[in-house]
Amino acid sequence: MRRLDQLLANLGYCSRREARDFLKKHAVTVRGVAVRDPAGKVLAADVLVDGEPLDHPEGLLLVLNKPLGLVCSHDEREGPRVYDLLPERWRARNPQVTSIGRLDKDTSGLILLTDRTELVHQYTSPKHKVPKLYRATVDADLSPELIPLFAAGTLLMDGETVPCAPAELRLNSSDRRTAELVLTEGKYHQVRRMFAAVGVTVLGLHRLQFGRLTLGPLASGEYRAVTTAEID
Ligand code: URA
Repeated sequence: MRRLDQLLANLGYCSRREARDFLKKHAVTVRGVAVRDPAGKVLAADVLVDGEPLDHPEGLLLVLNKPLGLVCSHDEREGPRVYDLLPERWRARNPQVTSIGRLDKDTSGLILLTDRTELVHQYTSPKHKVPKLYRATVDADLSPELIPLFAAGTLLMDGETVPCAPAELRLNSSDRRTAELVLTEGKYHQVRRMFAAVGVTVLGLHRLQFGRLTLGPLASGEYRAVTTAEID
């Protein structure tokens, strides 16, 4: 059981201070009974707002197809943010909706967003080795010799003292300037820096998959909520 004002504030409906006013303006019921007391204790599943169940009361986990040019930082000074694509109520949630790991401003594709702090840890912890699949477009023909080099677990990127974990490089037989790369870690700018370590510049980068999650039919800028069944 949680206080109703706390619950409404956590889910982005209003601030705790605004809860009393919110209850005057909206038909909020608990098991069908109208409520006016913001301090009352409730079960989220029993609450309806204007006849609708609460918006993802157990937490949000979203797959977003990130467009180029947006940042995963919350700092508006770094440019337009992925969070700006979300509905206002989700942006007002507390805990805040945040990205699980980051994609660079110049990288597009699959990014997970959540307000479930335990998931951020679970998916980014090196211990869990969640595979992430990227498609890179590069400035030179890629040699098959890179496959064992990336797989060896010995590649040292500039500025690092610990080599990269083994990574799977999949070349494209019809286009030697695109390839797929599967990483199980997420060091800063890792794909670009791994290729830089072998003298290749990444011109375009897109993430296709994160663990078992894929983009499916999501167009750039679109997102969907992930069901618990997808991550079990
Ligand atoms: N590697 C990069 O270089 N950039 C990303 O955004 C993700 C992985």
